Amino acid sequence: MTSFDKKIFIAGANGMVGSSVKRCFESAGFTDLLTPSSNALDLTDQKSVDEFFAHAEPEIVIIAAAKVGGILANNTYRADFIYQNLMIEANVINAAFKSGVEKLVLLGSSCIYPKLAVQPMREEELLSGYLEFTNEPYAIAKIAGIKLCESYYRQHGCNFYSLMPTNLYGPNDNFDLETSHVIPALMRKFHEAKESGDASVTIWGSGRPRREFMHVDDLAAAILFAMRIVEAKDIYENGISHLNIGTGSDVEIIEVAKLIKDVVGFDGEITLDNSKPDGTIRKLLDVKRMHDLGWHHKIELRHGLEEVYKWFLEHQPAAKDSAIA
Ligand SMILES: NC(=O)c1ccc[n+]([C@@H]2O[C@H](COP(=O)([O-])OP(=O)(O)OC[C@H]3O[C@@H](n4cnc5c(N)ncnc54)[C@H](OP(=O)(O)O)[C@@H]3O)[C@@H](O)[C@H]2O)c1
Repeated sequence: MTSFDKKIFIAGANGMVGSSVKRCFESAGFTDLLTPSSNALDLTDQKSVDEFFAHAEPEIVIIAAAKVGGILANNTYRADFIYQNLMIEANVINAAFKSGVEKLVLLGSSCIYPKLAVQPMREEELLSGYLEFTNEPYAIAKIAGIKLCESYYRQHGCNFYSLMPTNLYGPNDNFDLETSHVIPALMRKFHEAKESGDASVTIWGSGRPRREFMHVDDLAAAILFAMRIVEAKDIYENGISHLNIGTGSDVEIIEVAKLIKDVVGFDGEITLDNSKPDGTIRKLLDVKRMHDLGWHHKIELRHGLEEVYKWFLEHQPAAKDSAIA
């Protein structure tokens, strides 16, 4: 059992995932959490990161800091996505090694898997084929992060490993239509359509692709679970390089849209813009390994969406034309 006075550095503690990890760890009883913002500590700056580790001496590190965005942002700012994510991972992992950190958990994303990966995607699918072009730079950076952890384990015996969460939603999500993911984008669209009395909301594509969505608080619980019982050797000595975290079930985009429409209370129609591309038809993680270890998600989609809409309404005045962060 990890003792409650361990000094834990949550990188990216202001973000959707990091803030959830902070809430989860605090309510579990951890009292010594280090949570600097990017203004206080720029993780792309190696010197600052080395100094931070030398002075703060964290014992456990959770890397939830990353440059994150939807398809448009990933495709437009390709250099920023690969450069910043590589730098954050390399700086933090190497500094954690040099300062003797006991355990480090890096968060990746399901976009690391090949475009045509066998569904549901098992951990072994990593590097079995080519990636989706639009987010390839981001995915390559995340794969490099997985391999950094694995390499520091294999060369130096470091207890460093990666967890790959599925698509997430939750409080502190990004609701900016230019850069957001599916759920916050749809929630904002339905909300604004309700406010302005629009007759319909259009969603891109056929609505038929299936996606898996998990509440971010379930991920935070999975990270705590893994931090307590999973060791790097349990992963690498079983021939894999990371563990998937998800719900194990997926849903059609049109079904998610109907759920959000209902939760928001929009009375109009949903129309489909079939001229827009659908993307991959199915993306579902195989989560058997986490289930076998004894972890399961708890928050069902409808309930999670209701909670997030409440959060959105409380924070929405701050949203205007920018992200809610
Ligand atoms: N959102 C999803 O659906 C999803 C799904 C699967 C995996 N993930 C993974 O979960 C992790 C966190 O994602 P998120 O959704 O929580 O993103 P987010 O809300 O955008 O948060 C990212 C955090 O990273 C920090 N950050 C970015 N650049 C930094 C830098 N140069 N120095 C220090 N901190 C920096 C930001 O700090 P400040 O706020 O202080 O600027 C922010 O708090 C990522 O690795 C992502 O791949 C997310």
